Amino acid sequence: MNGKDWQDWHRSYDVPGSTLARRLSAVQDRIRIALDSFAPGPVRVVSMCAGEGRDLLEVLASHPRSVDVDAWLVELDPGNAARASASGLPGVSVFVGDAARTDNYVGHVPADLVLMCGVFGNVTDADIHATVTAAPQFCAPGGLVVWTRHRRPPDLVPQVCQWYEEAGFELVWVSDPSLDFGVGVHRFVGTPAPLVPGVRLFTFVGRCGRRDDVGAGQRGADRLRAAERDVAGRVAGEDRQAVLRVGAQPGEVLGGDCTGGLGELVAVVVDVVCDHA
Ligand SMILES: C[S@@+](CC[C@H](N)C(=O)[O-])C[C@H]1O[C@@H](n2cnc3c(N)ncnc32)[C@H](O)[C@@H]1O
Repeated sequence: MNGKDWQDWHRSYDVPGSTLARRLSAVQDRIRIALDSFAPGPVRVVSMCAGEGRDLLEVLASHPRSVDVDAWLVELDPGNAARASASGLPGVSVFVGDAARTDNYVGHVPADLVLMCGVFGNVTDADIHATVTAAPQFCAPGGLVVWTRHRRPPDLVPQVCQWYEEAGFELVWVSDPSLDFGVGVHRFVGTPAPLVPGVRLFTFVGRCGRRDDVGAGQRGADRLRAAERDVAGRVAGEDRQAVLRVGAQPGEVLGGDCTGGLGELVAVVVDVVCDHA
């Protein structure tokens, strides 16, 4: 993975009103609506990088269609996978392995519902494109993909929507751009494609590879000031935990004169960015 504590990452879900808690709620609403919409009969679900599987499993716990669901959750972290397995829901299988490898979906696709949540904020744009382009291999005709991507500038959500459309999907729903998270739902209306085993779709990158993006000179200084304002807002609000996690003192960041601790400030900003995967 990328050195991040992905078990700890999930704790933000338990902070009421946090960005991640609100994102989880939006994703769960979309999963509920998707399950409501499926024709009677078996429903196949696949979740890439499933984490603790809270998005799907908390919905299934009370949804009438859960008896029809056959779910395949792929997660690399054994601790997160163990928590997902602990739900004990019949029809739910948790596979500890690499969700980027197409081999790990053989026999489980095409699915009616594919979850790509918490992935696109942790991989390069090229890997997002590759994963979206491969989505027809994962989706049954008429199947739905629920995906997430943070809205930090540059906001890639519109581009991701366009990539889905180019891959044979139509937009069903996308979260309001004014929200500090992005959730999208696309329906597969294109030509079905068989799964191609032996392909790696993405690689999680450390700190989103953005540390160098700040740049030098006046532009760099402007971006740092913007970043500083962003962090200040977040420290004062719901993302305090995310900032504290990387070991920075909120006071330092709030006072930040952009001369000392520059790297720290950038690292903090980057970590916050990554937290909204
Ligand atoms: C941002 S979390 C998202 C978890 C879940 N999908 C959600 O939205 O709540 C990313 C998860 O991907 C897992 N992960 C990272 N790289 C992975 C890989 N190559 N294959 C499977 N899981 C991976 C991490 O362990 C972590 O649980």
